[in-house]
Amino acid sequence: MDNNNHDFGLIGLGVMGRNFILNVADNGFSASGLDLDAEKVEALHDEGSGKQIFGTQKIEEFVASLKTPRVIMMLVPAGKPVDNVIEDLLPHVEKGDIIIDGGNSHFDDTDRRFDYLKSNGINFLGIGVSGGAKGARLGPSMMPGGEKNIYDHISSIFEAVAAKVNGEPCVTYLGPKSAGNYVKMVHNGIEYALMQLIAESYDFLKSSGLTNDELADVFTNWNNGRLASFLVEITAEIFQKKDDLTDGHLVDAILDKAKQKGTGKWTSQHAMNLGIPIPAIDMAVTMRGLSSQKENRMNADLAYGRGISSTGLSKPEAIELAESALYFSYITSYAQGLVLLMAASEEKNYNLNPADISKIWRGGCIIRAGLLEKIRQAYAENSSLKNLLLAPNFVTEVQGTLSSTRKFISTGVQHGIPLPAHAACLSYFDAFTSGRLPINLVQAQRDHFGSHTYERVDREGIFHTEW
Ligand code: 6PG
Repeated sequence: MDNNNHDFGLIGLGVMGRNFILNVADNGFSASGLDLDAEKVEALHDEGSGKQIFGTQKIEEFVASLKTPRVIMMLVPAGKPVDNVIEDLLPHVEKGDIIIDGGNSHFDDTDRRFDYLKSNGINFLGIGVSGGAKGARLGPSMMPGGEKNIYDHISSIFEAVAAKVNGEPCVTYLGPKSAGNYVKMVHNGIEYALMQLIAESYDFLKSSGLTNDELADVFTNWNNGRLASFLVEITAEIFQKKDDLTDGHLVDAILDKAKQKGTGKWTSQHAMNLGIPIPAIDMAVTMRGLSSQKENRMNADLAYGRGISSTGLSKPEAIELAESALYFSYITSYAQGLVLLMAASEEKNYNLNPADISKIWRGGCIIRAGLLEKIRQAYAENSSLKNLLLAPNFVTEVQGTLSSTRKFISTGVQHGIPLPAHAACLSYFDAFTSGRLPINLVQAQRDHFGSHTYERVDREGIFHTEW
């Protein structure tokens, strides 16, 4: 160790943690890393040779290497491991030190840890970090929550490390306690929706006869247009990848069963608690569940003689419809996520600023997209916007996509190509833009069987009828 005055400490030296430390050091800060695994510590020393980096397996050495107040970030799996690391740290840290959780922790856990650490005189920040291992190395998007003055103490490191868009860092203080983890959770919910939507678009185009090479070209072109986004970009790369083990493309060899770690599900669960509809995200979570029932699906495919579906469309028409629908559904998915964030902000007193959130999502994170600059502008013009779909610019944008989106979804319905997340987006839109819904009948039924009462359209009051 060259000194005991290191600026930044990080616990958890997996690829993500090591990359984060290397990024910190590249930006002129000295950094220490801790991991129980000797190989990971050695990997840090190898990768960080020549940089102001120190790695150790010993917690005493690690803590002693940091200047006070110490800044210690954990990049360990969410759940119990975070509590374990906090317990391991507590005997070694001092009042005023700052512990940061950079994982995908549940917001309730973050609130609990914040109070617990506060009662021990330790400051705690929950900072959602997005961008994967590459983002950690080259510039992630980061979503900090906690006390503002504590964030201010570490902001120079985080702003230096973050991705930049037009010179602006993709990190900014978001709100108290679990605000950062909540925003990251909804980021992941939107991520689930966009991934599912892209997968459905792929299914539609494949059922229109496009080969993997053609799909790669389509997604490359889309990435140069209004759909420009990280997920579209990597999808183009995926279609180009040849399989090492067979003659075909790798994508065709991958089993169609999706895993999940929970952030999408938490987003849906909490949206349900708040009564906020986010059907694009709900459907994406549902489809991960349905995908995992592979055996049942195979049996049902046989039982119903489904075989292979075809849209019957020409390739150019299929591509045009799919592009419009994906743009429509992208807008609707961000819209749903942001409505949820604003509702949670009120419920949990996060005081979130949707323009700031859109701004730090423009680069570094998994849901980064050209569209986010337009979203940022819409909220900058009107911070109390109730739904992105009501922003004048978006009314025009969405109107331009509707007829193709309807044709895209109806073609899928007619030919048995499941497009559930796209359909959820369109139904959400159709319902949200309906001044009158058939829910008067639901109210009548509730009153009929359970005397639950109803309101009327033509006069004030609560009514009940003996039906
Ligand atoms: C990110 C990602 C990251 C992680 C997802 C994967 O922003 O960098 O969201 O946090 O890859 O949580 O989630 P699932 O395993 O649930 O798909």
